[in-house]
Amino acid sequence: MPDSAQEIFVRPSTEADVPAMIAIYCHHVQHGLGDYEMEPLHPDDIKRRRKSMLKRRLPHIVAEGNGAILGYAYAVPFRKRPAYRYAVKHSIYVHQDHLHAGIGRRLLPALIEACTAAGYRQMIAYIDGANLPSIEFHSANGFRQVGLLPCVGFKFGRWTDTLLMQRPLGAGGSASPDDPPGKPVTEDRP
Ligand SMILES: CC(C)(COP(=O)(O)OP(=O)(O)OC[C@H]1O[C@@H](n2cnc3c(N)ncnc32)[C@H](O)[C@@H]1OP(=O)(O)O)[C@@H](O)C(=O)NCCC(=O)NCCS
Repeated sequence: MPDSAQEIFVRPSTEADVPAMIAIYCHHVQHGLGDYEMEPLHPDDIKRRRKSMLKRRLPHIVAEGNGAILGYAYAVPFRKRPAYRYAVKHSIYVHQDHLHAGIGRRLLPALIEACTAAGYRQMIAYIDGANLPSIEFHSANGFRQVGLLPCVGFKFGRWTDTLLMQRPLGAGGSASPDDPPGKPVTEDRP
């Protein structure tokens, strides 16, 4: 296991990383506030998600240290309707034994950079209102709170709030976009 951030590198995920990503995800689903899935994920779900994201030039990346997967992150379209094509939402999970050790700090900027390079303009995070590490983490990475949905989830015997946090990518909303990001999409309807 790594003992310093220097030994960690970030790279695109591969299918061989899927079991490690599932193990990380399952821990947080069962014990944490990071997700709203109630059931463990099937390997095919991650494989399908990876392929679909890569087709759209959306990043799916891992942090690796000493041969072990220490965390992963990916972005998906914010919404399916074409008008939302410049906005993404993302997920990030760090291995439970390596929290607050600088892994997220490596992953999220790499994800932001890849989404910006692909032409996306806004990035959105849905965060459990009680997930203070994640709120602090996203604030430290240029996200600000833009909304709060009270009592929209029920998990571990309590109602949960969802915080919306957002940050611009590149020129954000200050200039019109040049080209459609990722895969070409159909034109806007009048
Ligand atoms: C949120 C998460 C991705 C952050 O990644 P991480 O590798 O633990 O965070 P880092 O060590 O890179 O921390 C970077 C900054 O984030 C903030 N942060 C991270 N963990 C924190 C904690 N436990 N408490 C307060 N701030 C924290 C700090 O600002 C920190 O900077 P610092 O080291 O100078 O204090 C990670 O905690 C995680 O995977 N949590 C479980 C799953 C989850 O909640 N995912 C997000 C769903 S929205």
